[in-house]
Amino acid sequence: MAILKILQYPDERLHKIAKKVTQVDESTRKLVRNMAETMYAAPGVGLAATQVDVHECIIVVDISETHDQLNILINPEIISSSGEEECEEGCLSVPGIYETVSRAARITVRALNEKGEIFTLNAEGLLAVCIQHEMDHLIGKVFVEYLSQLKQTRIRAKLKKRLRETM
Ligand code: NI
Repeated sequence: MAILKILQYPDERLHKIAKKVTQVDESTRKLVRNMAETMYAAPGVGLAATQVDVHECIIVVDISETHDQLNILINPEIISSSGEEECEEGCLSVPGIYETVSRAARITVRALNEKGEIFTLNAEGLLAVCIQHEMDHLIGKVFVEYLSQLKQTRIRAKLKKRLRETM
């Protein structure tokens, strides 16, 4: 397994649109394993393939503290959603920034697992938030883009400054 490099906002590659996985095979499973390892090492509760510069519809999510409830969603699709919930979110691609975003409170998502089998998952609370956040990455959207232009400008400036300081 390997720790993958996570793209940092405002990297343009975070805005690429991911393609559907046409065949779940050994290379998909290898990528999923590496994504999970990268997420756990960060540490984070979710990671989209987009964030490691692979533009395929794959996300991994594990909101447990024990790191033993890994959800692998390949080609995820939200088939129903209800309610609204505000939650403070963060992102491994936007380190140190936490902002409140409004999302559906409950979702039903359909996806393929690592064996290529279709399944549906009902999620609410943090898990629902996390899946929606990661699915946004697949369409090139980073959570800070829900914020006002002013806030986004401030966040970009802050992250660029920090990047310069660490180089
Ligand atoms: Ni994120």
